[in-house]
Amino acid sequence: MPPVLADPTSAHPFVTLDFLNPVIGDDMAAVDRVLRKSLGSDVVLIRQVADYIIAGGGKRLRPALLLLAANACGYRGRDHHTLAAAIEMIHTATLLHDDVVDESQLRRGHATANARFGNPASVLVGDFLYSRTFQLMVSVNRMRVLSIIADATNLIAEGEVLQLMHTGDAALDEAAYFAVIERKTAKLFEAAGRIGAVLGDASAECEDALARYGMHLGMAFQIMDDVLDYSGDAAHIGKNLGDDLAEGKMTLPLIRALAIGTPDEAALIRRAIAGGGLTDFAPVSAALERTGALAYARERAERESDAAAAAITRLDASAAASTLLQLSTFAARRTY
Ligand code: IPE
Ligand code: IPE
Ligand code: MG
Ligand code: MG
Repeated sequence: MPPVLADPTSAHPFVTLDFLNPVIGDDMAAVDRVLRKSLGSDVVLIRQVADYIIAGGGKRLRPALLLLAANACGYRGRDHHTLAAAIEMIHTATLLHDDVVDESQLRRGHATANARFGNPASVLVGDFLYSRTFQLMVSVNRMRVLSIIADATNLIAEGEVLQLMHTGDAALDEAAYFAVIERKTAKLFEAAGRIGAVLGDASAECEDALARYGMHLGMAFQIMDDVLDYSGDAAHIGKNLGDDLAEGKMTLPLIRALAIGTPDEAALIRRAIAGGGLTDFAPVSAALERTGALAYARERAERESDAAAAAITRLDASAAASTLLQLSTFAARRTY
């Protein structure tokens, strides 16, 4: 059964990502072919690990965004398939590294690559995917695109290191949290939107609109990821709950609960974040519910989703443009 998304505004209470298929289903199949072809290597372990994580599936949202942005700008060539595959490979490389750092055990419904093949293989194959991405981009031979991706990958690395520096830091505030997620997550979505526009030779105004759309979409997406880490269904999200608390990661729900909770709740959160581990997961989750911190974070995600939609109001009407609007709704209401 495909995972479903609760849509409280709909008479029909569930939505899936199926709305992407009529518009970019064929393009996504082409992206998948590029991805599979790009994983080739005569080094067996590289093929094993790369196949394992890529075949594990994933929502493929970043390539979808790039394709939709290119379509919305009237692009008619084939390079969007190559670049969408490149974006997904960057994302996959960051996941391989991120799961090592976060010591995560479950990803896309399977044991993580680090759990299955070990940390060294995950780190090194992540490097392989990164460098293969740059080979793909060079093959497209567009300096502007290369520059966008070079900047985005650099900022993602900064975001992940910034986050590492904040491990165990219960004093992290909302501004610092947003600064981290903008870099580690939203920048890649922003790059996907911008590249689609560049491919379509869009005006500067249109390019900025799609870049801003991507950035806000990415913010909504990561806020919801952090909500689901406490409130999701592991079978649905394909990841274990509680990874963030276990590694002492201060996310928006915790920041909110710490700010407005009782002194006892605040002390509990401080202790859980400083100590790491999962012993306090149940009482911390209860505090997040009681204080309305999860609802607060969902509301912030909705606002980012609204900002994403507002960014593209001036795009010419098209199936791709309306699908981008649906995607922004998905980002803030997703359950997987
Ligand atoms: C997970 O991204 C990492 C985040 C930035 C939250 P996704 O939720 O897009 O992961 P997949 O590709 O669908 O597995
Ligand atoms: C996103 O953060 C990581 C990257 C941008 C690589 P998370 O650590 O929350 O992502 P998940 O939950 O492991 O997918
Ligand atoms: Mg992680
Ligand atoms: Mg997460």
